[in-house]
Amino acid sequence: MGRLIVVSNRVSAPTDPAAGSAGGLAMALSAALRKYDGLWFGWSGETVDHFTGEAKIEDRAGVTVALVDLESQDVDEYYNGYANKTLWPLFHHRVDLTTYERSYGEGYERVNRRFAEVLAPMIEPDDIIWVHDYHLIPMARDLRRLGITNRIGFFLHTPWPARQLLVTLPHHRRLVESLFAYDLVGFHTREWLDLFTDYVVTEARGDVTGENGLECFGRVVQTGVYPIGIDVEGFIAAGDSALGRRTYDRMMSSTAFRSLLVGVDRLDYSKGLEQRLVGYEQFLADNPDMRSQVLLLQVTPISRDEVDSYQDIRGRLDSLAGRINGAYAEMDWQPIRYLNRTYRRDQLAGIYRAARVGLVTPLRDGMNLVAKEYVAAQDPANPGVLILSRFAGAAEQMGEALLVNPFSREELSEAIKQALTMPLAERIRKWKALMQVVRDTDVSIWRDDFVGALKAVKIVGDGGA
Ligand code: G6P
Repeated sequence: MGRLIVVSNRVSAPTDPAAGSAGGLAMALSAALRKYDGLWFGWSGETVDHFTGEAKIEDRAGVTVALVDLESQDVDEYYNGYANKTLWPLFHHRVDLTTYERSYGEGYERVNRRFAEVLAPMIEPDDIIWVHDYHLIPMARDLRRLGITNRIGFFLHTPWPARQLLVTLPHHRRLVESLFAYDLVGFHTREWLDLFTDYVVTEARGDVTGENGLECFGRVVQTGVYPIGIDVEGFIAAGDSALGRRTYDRMMSSTAFRSLLVGVDRLDYSKGLEQRLVGYEQFLADNPDMRSQVLLLQVTPISRDEVDSYQDIRGRLDSLAGRINGAYAEMDWQPIRYLNRTYRRDQLAGIYRAARVGLVTPLRDGMNLVAKEYVAAQDPANPGVLILSRFAGAAEQMGEALLVNPFSREELSEAIKQALTMPLAERIRKWKALMQVVRDTDVSIWRDDFVGALKAVKIVGDGGA
């Protein structure tokens, strides 16, 4: 059995796994790389004056990582530009925020080519290669051009957009065609895969072939649905750790017998944060008698702050949180605690456990793992209630949550009231069903299913492009 090579823009293998800052995905991929003696390849996060064409090799707790520095023009055009100003908003149905700049497309192609050129000489004949996310869609095509015939799989961590929106992207066909250089393309949900299939069949005149195949551009690609999950046992253990328990106690005493509602999201317009605050404001307006019983903790680390649309949403959230607090706060209570910072995994587990309601209300989201973490952190004897957007990929599996349309402030307000007043027996019944889903989609299952399917793909032809 050959090695596993993971390729992603951000290489999140932790230097110290015990430090508790790494997420479930990073831990699961690191464990696989240790097992298969693999390599994790991607951007170092650093910029240099001149691209060197070489990777820096490091050992991170038994995982070999290969890191490439980029020029600042690359970072502007590929990462801030095409990845985060073009593909991210478009894939999240925000055509209004999507920038179509030719130089961004060129930078994206250039960086993918550069990555392929650095990676190709490191690949051995039996290796299998697993490329992640929208930053690196053309990677396989570029590796094929360099003569790489190994199995290459691609997994998209975001939604796939509706065809009617995707066609607004100049060169949309070229982007989709490059996915046909992979052997396997995976999505979180049936909905994202169906949208991809719709584009291929309707716009590119391809065909569905066999059980999970698509034929187009003279190539066949296998497709599949692989819903990602969390490291369930690891997350439960984080909640039971000394710091997890201390955080829980601290939250319980600081909420002073109020019911805590919690939201944890990167500061991103796709997360529906403005709509969430407006829905909470509506709840406060609708239920004056319940005001003194609630508190919303919104943990929102700053993200991609070199991009205008992220600066804009940050400003709007600052003023919205300030306005709601200004309107409703009392001398000893503020309705919202709004924090731009991150917490360790064990602290988050403690915070989630102390929260009667978990608010996960993105306007569109590939999966959303906060929904699963919130459920895993609950006390089985007295669990909280998950309010989940029907537009998160997680809603395809977590139908026992209170599913809401996050665009409707009234619906959000009603769901908050329903969650806060839900009888214990119903909370326990819902939690059990959700916890089963969380266990059934553990991140190790996701990883092993994808890698297993990639190994099992029947290769047609020579695999070259
Ligand atoms: C999403 C993307 C990931 C990305 C993460 C953080 O989850 O799917 O690929 O790494 O956001 O964003 P950043 O731009 O900081 O890597």
